[in-house]
Parts: sequence; structure tokens; C-alpha cells
Amino acid sequence: MPLPYSDIVMEHFRNPRNVGRIEDADAKAVEGSPACGDMVAVYLKVDEATHRIEDVKFESYGCASNIATGSIITELAKGKTLEEAKQITWQQASEALGGLPPIKAHCSVLAVDGLRAAIQNYEEKHGLIKERVPTTEEEIRRRLKHVMNPMVGLDLVRTKLVREIRLENGQVRIVIDLPPDHQFASNIREEIREKIEPLWDVESVEVEFTG
Ligand code: FES
Repeated sequence: MPLPYSDIVMEHFRNPRNVGRIEDADAKAVEGSPACGDMVAVYLKVDEATHRIEDVKFESYGCASNIATGSIITELAKGKTLEEAKQITWQQASEALGGLPPIKAHCSVLAVDGLRAAIQNYEEKHGLIKERVPTTEEEIRRRLKHVMNPMVGLDLVRTKLVREIRLENGQVRIVIDLPPDHQFASNIREEIREKIEPLWDVESVEVEFTG
């Protein structure tokens, strides 16, 4: 049975550009797809003066469509300013790939969301966010949906590991329902910090494990 993919998709799937991680990245993000549970990580190096993307890499735990889209959008984003790169849409990516089966649209959305989240991560770290909305518990919970529970490959919220979120005067306290000596406790703590600390009005993040 022929694969439902264009030649361009297959070419990018077999030889994806910009795959890997940037160890000293200026920004990074991991996004998960609510549709299929797959994940993509995007890393950026950005020129501080011009805000131009000097380098961008991605790691995909998704399917061929996701890998091909990651490949094409990183090609499109490289050399662009953050503002320009934010305008890249999954429709553009899909067009550049010669089309994707409709059932695979969420895979390219995931890749584009990963790029946008990495840009947002950079903007937050560098005080570039224009509309500064005060952080709420909802926003913290939304971000925790992007931290994976490595035991099952789903996020912390969906796997009901978040026991408590407290936010008071810029101090955030998150209680995770796992023993403190759990093998993934330090990874999870680090990932939570990476997601929550860049918020402009958050001063400290305390992650406690009780289980
Ligand atoms: Fe999950 Fe394509 S099916 S990324």
C-alpha cells in the first residue's frame, strides 16, 4: 500500500534538517499533542541585539508528519527574527511539504506550537513580553500540562501527580504526588522550574514531593 505522504514529506522524514539539541540553547520548549500524546522539543540560539534566530534544532517523538514539519519549519525559521518566525503557520509548513493528510494536521500543529513555545520562552527570559498579564494558578496548571511524567509518557496533570499549586506574592509552591527519592524526582523538579520560572512575576519556585 503506498504511503499517504508526498515525496517532499518522505524526503524530510528520511533526512530531517536541524535534528538534535543545542546544549547551550538560549531558549527551549517541549510541547505535547493533546490529540496523540506525542512530543516535540525545540531549541533556539538567538542574537541578542537583532533577535534573529541564529540556530534552531528539534527533537521529535512524533510520527513522520511531525518530523517532516519540524524539519521544514526549522528551515523556515533559521535567519528570521523572532517576530517573523512567530508568523510561520502549520498551513504554510504543510504547503511547503506538498500537503499532509488531513488526519495528520495535528502533527504539524504540534511542531509549530513547539517553535512558538520556544520563542515565548526566549521572550519571557529576556523581558520581551509586551502584554504582562499577572500569573494565575490556571496558567501554572496549563504549563504543568507540558511537563511529562516519564513513567507513562503523559503529562503531570493528566496523570494526577499535581497535588497542590500555591501562588502568593510571586512565590510558587507545587506539590507532586511522588516520594522525594523517586528516580525521576529531580528531572521533574528541573522541568517544572524551567516552565514556571520564566514567568515575569514569579520570583521563586518550590517543588515538593510527598508520596
Ligand atoms: Fe502524533 Fe503525528 S501522530 S505527532
